[in-house]
Amino acid sequence: MRVGIADRGSVRVVTLDNPPVNALSFAYSAELLEAVRAAEADANVRAVVFTGANGLFSGGADVNDFSTEPTPETKTVRDVIAAVEAGTKTYVAAIDGNALGGGLELSLACDYRIATKASKLGLPEIKLGLLPGAGGTQRLPRLIGAQAALEFMLKGSSNPAEKALKLGVLDELVDGDVVDAAVALAERALASEPKRRVSARKAIIGKGITAQAGPFVVSAAHKMVPPEENGGYAAHKLIDAVEAAVELPFAFGIAREARLFEELVRSEPSAALRHIFFAERELNKVPGLAAAEPLTIAKAGVVGAGTRGTGIAIAFATAGIPVVVVDSNDGAVEKAKQTVFGMFMYQVQKGKLTQEEAWKRAQSIVFTEDYAELADVDVVVEAVFESMDVKKQVFARLGGIVKPDAILASNTSTLDIDEMASVTTRPDKFVGLHFFVPANIMPLLEIVRGKDTSPQTIATAFKLGKTLRKTSVLSANAFGFIGNRMVIDYAGAANAIAEEGVSPWRIDGVMKKFGFPMGPFAMSDLSGIDVGWHIAKARPDLVTSRTHVVDRLVEMKRLGQKTMGGYFKYDKAVGKGREPIQDPEIEALFAEEAKKAGIAPRDYTDDEIRDRLIGALSNRGKDLLEKGVALRSGDIDIVYVYGYGFPPHRGGPMWYADHAKSATASEELTHA
Ligand code: 3HC
Repeated sequence: MRVGIADRGSVRVVTLDNPPVNALSFAYSAELLEAVRAAEADANVRAVVFTGANGLFSGGADVNDFSTEPTPETKTVRDVIAAVEAGTKTYVAAIDGNALGGGLELSLACDYRIATKASKLGLPEIKLGLLPGAGGTQRLPRLIGAQAALEFMLKGSSNPAEKALKLGVLDELVDGDVVDAAVALAERALASEPKRRVSARKAIIGKGITAQAGPFVVSAAHKMVPPEENGGYAAHKLIDAVEAAVELPFAFGIAREARLFEELVRSEPSAALRHIFFAERELNKVPGLAAAEPLTIAKAGVVGAGTRGTGIAIAFATAGIPVVVVDSNDGAVEKAKQTVFGMFMYQVQKGKLTQEEAWKRAQSIVFTEDYAELADVDVVVEAVFESMDVKKQVFARLGGIVKPDAILASNTSTLDIDEMASVTTRPDKFVGLHFFVPANIMPLLEIVRGKDTSPQTIATAFKLGKTLRKTSVLSANAFGFIGNRMVIDYAGAANAIAEEGVSPWRIDGVMKKFGFPMGPFAMSDLSGIDVGWHIAKARPDLVTSRTHVVDRLVEMKRLGQKTMGGYFKYDKAVGKGREPIQDPEIEALFAEEAKKAGIAPRDYTDDEIRDRLIGALSNRGKDLLEKGVALRSGDIDIVYVYGYGFPPHRGGPMWYADHAKSATASEELTHA
């Protein structure tokens, strides 16, 4: 950790150098503050250029510090920015790489901002349940207008430098050395317009929008974000801060922002989101893996052109990896080709891909029925029917065709990886790659380690996951791995409550209110009631249901959305047949079956429903941790947030059970 100081004539270059991301921690801010004070006190220094070492400007404030209560002596990035603001020198930000959060806010306090084209600028605080708390909410509306600033901060995404220039966040883009350009700019500015503090400007609503429209823009923003109690806590406060920027003098706005920020730092949603941030960065820290050199995956194969296989093929093609898809079913291949074509066309229509790029990607997926075409691929992902026998046949066949150092992977969602590996001669190169459906969209990848899977194969799987832009979580080889094993308990608990007379509609409503995009019954309808039924038949030891409701649904051919009826009804005229409609017939079915089984009705409060369902998840999660199926409880949280729609602002089932104020003790495990 050091602050680089180098004088170029009367311009002082101050380099942020706090690896890995030049985070502006309390300790580092104290050093930086000293550097600013020294520059201000030095009569030979007329301008200061801030820049960053380690390939970026700065990743912002140190997120670890938010769990520490600052003392009166603590220095933060706000103190550095206040010193710049009050200073007499000209300040220039020279950005090369990421300038995020407090890092970007430091540059907003400067008189000029320039960046290389490869730079990315953003205020991602909202993703941590915070608002930009070092002047961002006050300076950005003054710089680019409140409307654009709201969009910038509420999305929290990283913006390419060109977009930032267009918005007015940057003054210039630079081709060559950004520091040289910044020094030259500082020298020019000293001769013409040395002081250009953003704070001196008046915030506007937007280009061509009158000040009278301010209240409408603010109220529209409040309406667009989720409710405060359900994922929108920080967003509403952020909008309040921007409103202050429009209505109040700068100093008052800064004070308002600081107060709102402090409230958020202490809030439960922010603590939960910060947990997710760090849990995500722990995922690939797997003991024993550091020395393993991942293999290169230049070409891939997929066996099976069904929904899963097609999604996986699209994911490879999107990442620039050519892929051979083997399937002998002409109908499936035809449908897959249409899906591939439709998907890339959609991206062209949305302006996300050029026609040429879409064509190139679609062409990089080759369909064939000839296994021999897999001879030169580096990885094959099997995505055939979920049957051990069928999968074993595929792998036995692949063994003799695919080159010896290629990795063989199964996309099974529940089955035993070791049993499949046993039919190959390369169990060390065998791994589970459990993509979620649709694989080209869902961000989660479960990497399943068999008993003989080598560290190199696991390292390669993690690297591949990154290339495919997936969030990868390691699981041991156990039935259902992490996610699906837990979902069995979750669905089981929902079923048990319905058997006690609470309607599936109400149970789903409670979980949606909690923040899930859909409840457990709508989820079963989406994945197919027959899928759960097959699992129950294969593993009767995992079944908790005391009634025959599921058997009856299967008999009635109510298999979920695909048959326009499951636990709920579906109607093509309502949400294109994807919107669940409450069905009294199924409520009566639960009552009838419960009566037959001698189950007495019981009243539940909404909180009890929530706690029983989340408890089912967290109790199974604890069991999976004890058995070593999951490495860390944070890994389980990531699986649920990225794979099953658990609301991130609740931290995942494990974090929620351990930390949330509203969570209460949950039920015990009923099955091994
Ligand atoms: N605080 C603390 N640690 C951070 C950090 C931050 N802001 N940003 C990154 N790190 C740590 C990571 O935890 C990781 O640590 P590890 O090596 O021990 O696992 C290490 O830095 C490298 O991070 P990544 O693996 O994410 O590295 P990448 O190169 O993939 O990405 C990045 C770099 C784009 C900077 C990315 O880390 C990132 O997006 N960071 C978070 C940015 C952010 O949210 N900033 C806002 C902070 S809040 C703020 O500024 C408040 C202010 O308004 C007052």
